[in-house]
Amino acid sequence: MRVLVVGSGGREHALVWGLARKGDHTLFGAPGNPGMARESKVCAVKADDLEGMADLAEELSVDLVVVGPEAPLVAGMAEVLAGRGITCLGPDRQGSMIEGSKWFAKEVMDSAGVPTAEGKLFESREEALSYMGDDVRSFVLKADGLAAGKGVFLPQDLEEASGTLEELFGGKLGESGKRVVVERRLSGMEASVLAICNGKDALVLPASRDHKRIGEGDTGPNTGGMGAVCPPPEMEDGFERRIREMVVLPVLEEMRRRGCEYRGVLYAGLMLTDQGPHVLEFNVRFGDPETQAVLPLVQGDLAEALAAAAQGELLPSTLSFSGGAAACVVMASGGYPISYEKGYEITGLSEVSEALVFHAGTAVVEGSLVTAGGRVLGVTAVSDGLDRALDKAYRAVETIDFRNSYYRKDIGRTAP
Ligand code: AMP
Ligand code: GLY
Repeated sequence: MRVLVVGSGGREHALVWGLARKGDHTLFGAPGNPGMARESKVCAVKADDLEGMADLAEELSVDLVVVGPEAPLVAGMAEVLAGRGITCLGPDRQGSMIEGSKWFAKEVMDSAGVPTAEGKLFESREEALSYMGDDVRSFVLKADGLAAGKGVFLPQDLEEASGTLEELFGGKLGESGKRVVVERRLSGMEASVLAICNGKDALVLPASRDHKRIGEGDTGPNTGGMGAVCPPPEMEDGFERRIREMVVLPVLEEMRRRGCEYRGVLYAGLMLTDQGPHVLEFNVRFGDPETQAVLPLVQGDLAEALAAAAQGELLPSTLSFSGGAAACVVMASGGYPISYEKGYEITGLSEVSEALVFHAGTAVVEGSLVTAGGRVLGVTAVSDGLDRALDKAYRAVETIDFRNSYYRKDIGRTAP
């Protein structure tokens, strides 16, 4: 099969790595990164260039396009590709609204009977404040639209809530924040589940957990993700099956009722409350950095499964999970996510033997590999248990060096 992976981060590197593992596939990545260039041919087309990507897919005669990030899907990449007769794993614009609008996701969940925090949509600060009353710490504020992980607020007091609402309605996040969902604050540990969906049915991959905050002990600002483990240590047996039946299949059915065959990955971000798992958010794509921890535990022909899902065909039963555990530790540029410098040489990669190194923000400049983004590398190790996987991942991290590198030392050891 000829497969094109759209995107340039650690998730996309893990995807080409996973696709290359089994079967005889020819892989392409666009725009890709230096790590992806090992398993795929990298082509310089930007992920948000919908027509350019369709031209490339035609030129390369690919059988399947796998879209990594959400923005091209929300912008309609699936329709543009379908219009050219190209098979795409990733929902169309209507399906992508389950990530692109928190309120749409809530309506779908309410109709489908999927457990989620009770919430309401607001377009003015006064109404939102009066809904919350004095007890703002019992609520969460969410920009309705895409906000690259920066659209969720947990105010500590009325003043903070009021200020956040003022900023959102004032346009701080553009159109994304001009509608705000106010929902009940839940508590519990978090977990993510990725489901490969063919419109009606779903293959659910092992559960994982990411660490979104920059600081140890899950403190400080949110990031794109500082690490992930698969599976989270305290997961009960059959958890994924339960989420498939309780969340994924009812959502697919409700989407079909609304006229959308959802063919793509559905990512459910869950909170494990005393009343059982509740959905915090959906994404319409693989998680980053969860994918870097999940795919190394998946055995079988990934391309075959993704192509079947994209074509709405029967999902193969050939994907299996190896057992054991995987841990991914993200090495970032010091100062990320606020401000950081780029262009520092990365050394030590050739000494890593016990771990996989997925590239995210890297570039080759005059023959040297240098840092080129906030999150630079995702270092993943697999073992029979999580502690050993973490030890291996951290040993590998310590052999890699670049100026001002930063990583969290407590991945998998605290529970967000
Ligand atoms: P989201 O982008 O919706 O996953 O939200 C980002 C983070 O905000 C989640 O990982 C949670 O830690 C937190 N969060 C979101 N919704 C809620 C909620 N209803 N109650 C408590 N925390 C939440
Ligand atoms: N790790 C969170 C996400 O992919 O959205």
